Amino acid sequence: MNILVLGSGGREHTFAWKIAQSELCNSLFVAPGNSGTASIATNLNISVTDFEGIKKTVITNNIEIVVVGPEDPLVQGIHDYFLQDEHLKGVSVIGPQKAAAELEGSKEFAKEFMKRHHIPTAAYQSFTKANIEEGYQFLETLEPPYVLKADGLAAGKGVLIIKDIEEAKVELKDMLVDAKFGKASTKVVIEEFLDGIELSCFVLTDGKDYKILPTAKDYKRIGEGDTGLNTGGMGAVSPVPFASKEFLDKIENQIVKPTVEGLQKDNLPYVGFIFIGLIKVGDDPKVIEYNVRMGDPETEVVLPRLKNDLVEIFNAMSNGTLSEIELDIEERAATTIMLVSGGYPEAYEKDKEIFGLDDVKESIVFHAGAKSRDGKVVTSGGRVMAVTSYGTDYEEAIKKSYQSIDLLCFDKMYYRKDIGFDL
Ligand code: AMP
Ligand code: GLY
Repeated sequence: MNILVLGSGGREHTFAWKIAQSELCNSLFVAPGNSGTASIATNLNISVTDFEGIKKTVITNNIEIVVVGPEDPLVQGIHDYFLQDEHLKGVSVIGPQKAAAELEGSKEFAKEFMKRHHIPTAAYQSFTKANIEEGYQFLETLEPPYVLKADGLAAGKGVLIIKDIEEAKVELKDMLVDAKFGKASTKVVIEEFLDGIELSCFVLTDGKDYKILPTAKDYKRIGEGDTGLNTGGMGAVSPVPFASKEFLDKIENQIVKPTVEGLQKDNLPYVGFIFIGLIKVGDDPKVIEYNVRMGDPETEVVLPRLKNDLVEIFNAMSNGTLSEIELDIEERAATTIMLVSGGYPEAYEKDKEIFGLDDVKESIVFHAGAKSRDGKVVTSGGRVMAVTSYGTDYEEAIKKSYQSIDLLCFDKMYYRKDIGFDL
């Protein structure tokens, strides 16, 4: 089969790495890809939201499966675009249709979905400019800190957690009246703050049945000890040591099952990944958010632990036979550490040559913001590479990743030296 992966990050390099191991894969394409995907697949210079361009390449290259990495094309309806097109409707798209992608595209939609299907989550209300006064009043009823969420997609920046009520009111006004996050904050969800430790659960579904992939925990803040600005993710571990069998059963029964059943009840077709952001409050899981794709950098630790043929799984998802698949999960732990450009997530420089890639033997280096130029690999983004290792436990795996990182360098390279500190 010929397969196309859409995206250009570490997640997509990991998908390509895993798909390339399948005997079912003939030709593999990545659009637009990066220097890592270029070494195992054909990169195509097409944007993930250029549906016309994607259509042309799917037809020209006889592509049978399209794996959608990021959320944007899903929220914009790429799956629907394929279904509505005479030439594309037979192509398998891994990723939900637009209606279900609203689980990520609209926080309010996600909250209403959870409420309707009795899925545990933080109490909330949503507001627009028209009822901002009620928003101020609702804030008065909550305990600090206050959680304000832009309803729409805001590139991971739309959630504010604020200690002071007056500041929260000012931010609410900034979002609703002054369009702090553009159109994404025409509506704002205000919710109860949940105190606990976070983890993520990844689900594969064909719309009827589901399979739960290994849990993972990512580290979002730029600074050690989880301080400083939010990033796309600075590292991840899988499995999550505190997720006991009993706790995982709760996640499955209280969250995963009602989610997949809810999709069916609401008539929301879904072939793809569901990424459930969770927080453990006391002994119970609560949902923070849904994403309609895999996480990044969680993919860099979850897929390396999946022993199955991923293309076989994609076929089963598309054919509605996921129930026949049994997941085979690697016992060992996997960890990844993200190397980022100095200054990220604020301003940073690009085009720095990356040295030492060939010397790394004990880890897998997944490229993210990196590209090939004149036979060299140079930085092209904030998050540059994810260095993944296996170990008997996460501590051993992390040690290996740090040893591999000692072999790598580029100008102003930065990484967190404390991934896993809180486990
Ligand atoms: P989200 O984009 O919804 O994942 O939110 C970004 C981050 O904000 C999450 O990873 C949490 O760390 C935090 N967060 C979101 N909602 C809550 C909440 N209700 N209580 C505590 N922390 C939250
Ligand atoms: N690592 C968080 C995300 O992919 O959204």
